[in-house]
Amino acid sequence: MLLESRPAAGALLGALTPPGDKSMSHRALILGALATGETRIEGLLDSDDVRATAAALRQLGVLLAVEGTQVRLMGRGAEGFDPPTGALDMGNSGTAMRLLAGVLAAQPFASRLVGDASLSRRPMRRIIEPLRAMGADISASGEGRAPLTIVGRPLHGLDYASPVASAQVKSCVLLAGLFAKGRTRVREPVPSRDHTERMLGLFGAPLDAQGWLEGGAQLHGSRFRVPADISSAAFPLAAAVLTPGSDILLRNVGLNSTRTGLLDAVRAMGADLEIRLTPNSDSEPSGDIRVRYSGRLRAININGEQIPGMVDEIPVLMALAATAEGMTRIRGAAELRLKESDRLAVMGGALRALDVGIQLYADGADIEGRESLRDVAELDSAGDHRCAMSLAVLGTRTGVGLRIRQAQYIATSYPDFVRHMNSLGANLRMVGKV
Ligand code: S3P
Repeated sequence: MLLESRPAAGALLGALTPPGDKSMSHRALILGALATGETRIEGLLDSDDVRATAAALRQLGVLLAVEGTQVRLMGRGAEGFDPPTGALDMGNSGTAMRLLAGVLAAQPFASRLVGDASLSRRPMRRIIEPLRAMGADISASGEGRAPLTIVGRPLHGLDYASPVASAQVKSCVLLAGLFAKGRTRVREPVPSRDHTERMLGLFGAPLDAQGWLEGGAQLHGSRFRVPADISSAAFPLAAAVLTPGSDILLRNVGLNSTRTGLLDAVRAMGADLEIRLTPNSDSEPSGDIRVRYSGRLRAININGEQIPGMVDEIPVLMALAATAEGMTRIRGAAELRLKESDRLAVMGGALRALDVGIQLYADGADIEGRESLRDVAELDSAGDHRCAMSLAVLGTRTGVGLRIRQAQYIATSYPDFVRHMNSLGANLRMVGKV
């Protein structure tokens, strides 16, 4: 599909609640499925990625009743899954594949995890190595890519020093650790999002103060309210920051401090954000973000320590840097090349086409912003949802607008993106097949 993004007629105004957090939605389904008793989830993200996890759990015998964003599921307990009849299709979702691999490594049956072309290019050695160190029998295609074949076996605990800051790797190992004999811990070069750790606590298997998870813990069904996804909120936020006169409110956004790096970054660039935390006892903090236009942004430097807290927001940060005053330097972001696409290359190519000064590095980019962008007819998102939405934000700042190819992948994380943006006054339209 082509997405057409034209300049808005005026300011962006109004309020909206972005869709539920993708990371938390996958985890709530998986932990609920492993628990005994009923789990109720509110605010689940209804998107292609999360549907892949739900469909896989159903294939494993889990009863899931989904009504819009409300879910009731009856957990099967740690050893209650049925052997799947066919391959489990993870679609475009790295989170679904890596987290479920951790669970399946310990089940008393064999399973096969497959994905789409993008997911089949992404690295799986990062989970295969620690799982094998726990005793798992898991193999991939020649280059360590999906499909994954897993023959479940008894596992033992592991103290894993991960070479990458990755919540998917950490969560995979911790989920396998739930079934292992002995205890498991994951250490990372820089802390990544901690949703799995928090949710394990909520379901009755807390990590101790040193980060150890005791193998064999029994999870109990729970209630979980999924806040809106800050990684989706990032797009209307960025559009408002760039559009003169804008004043929008993004409601009930997840504000876990391992995820809020973009808010710090855009504030440092001069954006006007007002954040109001909602007082509640949920295991994940949330609140409202008011975004007001405050003039042209200034360039910023981002280093590797800051990347995990905004790993999915680097494409939209690159879009913001494209029109900021001065040179933005991003480093320590080599992981961006291993996402749904090589995000540095895709965004770099798009910015170059828009006549933005850009130099790419193995682990980042230098971006010399310019006040007005060159008009180009079409750009390719490489089938990457976050690149497509970042380019849509930039289209609002061109003279005549942009057409973005392969934009249908936006449905993996934000199916209502066009409708939500237009409700604020943006001018986006899906214009059919390529
Ligand atoms: C995610 C972790 C991050 C992130 C992805 C979701 C998760 O990936 O980019 O969108 O839910 O654990 P990595 O663990 O590969 O950094």
